[in-house]
Amino acid sequence: METLKEKYKDYFLIGAAVNASTIRTHGELIKDHFNSITCENEMKFSNLCPREKEYQFEKADTIVQFAKDNELKMRMHTLVWHNQTPEWVFLDTTKEGLEERLSNHIHMLGKRYGKDCYSVDVVNEAIEDKLDGFLRESSWLQGLGNDYIERAFLLAKQEMPEAKLFYNDYNETNPIKRDKIFKLIKELKEKGIPVDGIGMQCHINIYHSSMDELKEAIEKYLSLGVSIEITEMDVSMFRHEDRSEILKPTIEQYKAQARVYKECFQIFREYKNDITSVTLWGVSDDVSWLNHFPVNNRRNWPLLFDEMMKPKEAFYEIMNF
Ligand code: XIL
Repeated sequence: METLKEKYKDYFLIGAAVNASTIRTHGELIKDHFNSITCENEMKFSNLCPREKEYQFEKADTIVQFAKDNELKMRMHTLVWHNQTPEWVFLDTTKEGLEERLSNHIHMLGKRYGKDCYSVDVVNEAIEDKLDGFLRESSWLQGLGNDYIERAFLLAKQEMPEAKLFYNDYNETNPIKRDKIFKLIKELKEKGIPVDGIGMQCHINIYHSSMDELKEAIEKYLSLGVSIEITEMDVSMFRHEDRSEILKPTIEQYKAQARVYKECFQIFREYKNDITSVTLWGVSDDVSWLNHFPVNNRRNWPLLFDEMMKPKEAFYEIMNF
């Protein structure tokens, strides 16, 4: 059987989010089909440094070693985010103190993994979703002020000069949010801040129909002279606001999912010169984060491989055109 990475070798890297356990339980599937990986959690601030000055690199190290042993490339995710950042970072400190903590963190990651990663999500999800409001009210914003984003990029450039530096976000094709992301990156570029790319998370669902918006977003971002990576793709069986549960998707739902994957990949392929990698947020349905979010223990089936790690209709759909 042809594999994903073979099929897409002339287009872009095919990535999966992995964690310390899935590289053991799903190692063969990862090695067969993917040529890029992202740590789903292990490179996040709270996982690496839950207490001040106590870095725990073991799990991330294991994943980096797995990548090296199997010739997989790596994305680094993520340096600055409002989630999964430990409390201590923002406590008992001044603006200068917080700056030092940020700079120290980026230094630690750069030193250890900078050379192992082709791209880095320097800042994640900094834009406000609500209509009014530009930057998200986060502890980073409160503590460091509006220019925390540019500081992060400058530090990342200094500490990991070989990696491509990304701004990463979700709902990134929604015109209102897209325009805010565009404005942010435009302003950064005009100031000479080293932003190399925009990460489009691509957490969508089987009802997704606005492929025009996907194209428009890609075009708009590319007009900034950046590259694009699809960083966290999955296609949920549920609409965003739907909290109901199902025992198993219907044939129609699997078909709808396959259609959405195909239509997206069709567009990604058109932009193969600008898209470096397309990463799925997980390996197979049994280990997707959407089995826990936004409803805990609600099964979802958002990926290309099923709970038995077998290819799904969506897989065949993107393989056979
Ligand atoms: C998610 C992980 O998949 C979960 O295991 C964790 O509990 C929460 O974070 N956007 C991101 C990712 O940028 O880091 C998130 O990952 C999913 C949404």
